[in-house]
Amino acid sequence: MDDSMRFGRGFTLWFTGLSGAGKTTIANIVEKELRERLGGVEVLDGDIVRTNLSKGLGFSREDRDTNVLRIGFVANLLTRNGVGVIVSAISPFREVRDRVREDIGEDFIEVFIDAPVEVCAERDVKGLYKKAYSGEIPQFTGVSDPYESPNAPELHIKTDEEEPSDSARRVVEFLEHYGYLRRVEQYDRA
Ligand code: ADX
Repeated sequence: MDDSMRFGRGFTLWFTGLSGAGKTTIANIVEKELRERLGGVEVLDGDIVRTNLSKGLGFSREDRDTNVLRIGFVANLLTRNGVGVIVSAISPFREVRDRVREDIGEDFIEVFIDAPVEVCAERDVKGLYKKAYSGEIPQFTGVSDPYESPNAPELHIKTDEEEPSDSARRVVEFLEHYGYLRRVEQYDRA
């Protein structure tokens, strides 16, 4: 498909990465920018989805996969209807992320939000790493449960090396480059 023909098509930006890597922070900035520039935008955040659609699910591999597949299902419906979707979920298992990629097809954009676990633990925004290291929270991703990095993400963002606003700009530029978002001329940005 010609890159210039994608405007108006839906897409799913799938942010995957450890807790505390910066998924929500960057998603919030991207969301704000997209809301100004697109008709339909929706955010599916693991923490929020787990209070409703995935309420009652835990953190076993099976429950995580169920959670991720539910999020993927909704993201796919929205994408097919022209919505710009931002997913923010640890989604630690490659196989299930790849299943969602297959379902959504070429409008699936995997964004690896990457920071070493030591950096995430140092930030410890929610105080969960402390509890994970003490054993109070079992099966914690990156500490006592696996995280499988994407092999070929469309974007790889190292949040210990750049500011969230710069990361967000790279995401937006990706969308512009592939024609999902019209470029804003320099003078419009001022
Ligand atoms: S996923 O693995 O199923 O994709 P999801 O992104 O929905 O996870 O939820 C992760 C959030 O749940 C974390 O940001 C954290 O706040 C909380 N959480 C609670 N227990 C755990 C755990 N054992 N492992 C990872 N995150 C946990």
